[in-house]
Amino acid sequence: MKDWTGNHSALFANLGASNHTEQQREVNDYYATNPKAISRLLHQKQLPHVIYECACGEGHLSEELKKHGHEVISTDLIDRGYGTGGIDFLKVDKLKEDCTCILTNPPYKFTLEFIEHSLELLPESGEAIFLLNVNNLAGKTRFERLYSKGCLKEVFLFPDRIACAKNGDFASVSSSAVNYAWFVFAKGYLGTTKLHWIE
Ligand SMILES: C[S@@+](CC[C@H](N)C(=O)[O-])C[C@H]1O[C@@H](n2cnc3c(N)ncnc32)[C@H](O)[C@@H]1O
Repeated sequence: MKDWTGNHSALFANLGASNHTEQQREVNDYYATNPKAISRLLHQKQLPHVIYECACGEGHLSEELKKHGHEVISTDLIDRGYGTGGIDFLKVDKLKEDCTCILTNPPYKFTLEFIEHSLELLPESGEAIFLLNVNNLAGKTRFERLYSKGCLKEVFLFPDRIACAKNGDFASVSSSAVNYAWFVFAKGYLGTTKLHWIE
């Protein structure tokens, strides 16, 4: 059984840890997410039936969504033996017709680009739901390119720490140094952002 909590230091194996060098990060930013991050979100937020996991890795999030009855389209830049490999999300120019939701834990390096591109692709009111380091709430560039335009509808904050495993190696994951939240961006949303504490 996989150990999702881990027991030794993996300071640099956490998605969004900002105090590490490029060499210390996996080259394509592959950090698998503990599927509990999805089941806990689903206790508090209803998602549409069809979901696009656009950076699926080995399918940890996709499989958990499927267990909850969702139809999931899964692609990744790298073929990791799950979903369709060789698909650069930033070059995807169309969503499946009935898809109004993109959900992923994105590559750290392209977080902003992934959010912007998702909002371009989604229909009005469609949602991009991203697991991000809470530090992503701050920053001048993010504010200018994203938050000043509205669109951040909800934040579901984990009071405890969610484990993400470098290269999917959960056996060597330590307790996380990163605080994560699900950020819900809705195309065309101009209201205030609601903060929820995830149980
Ligand atoms: C942080 S991992 C998350 C994997 C999976 N979403 C999960 O939560 O377990 C980010 C994933 O993004 C993929 N990736 C990096 N650049 C990409 C791109 N331009 N298009 C699609 N996927 C990309 C990596 O190969 C990696 O599998």
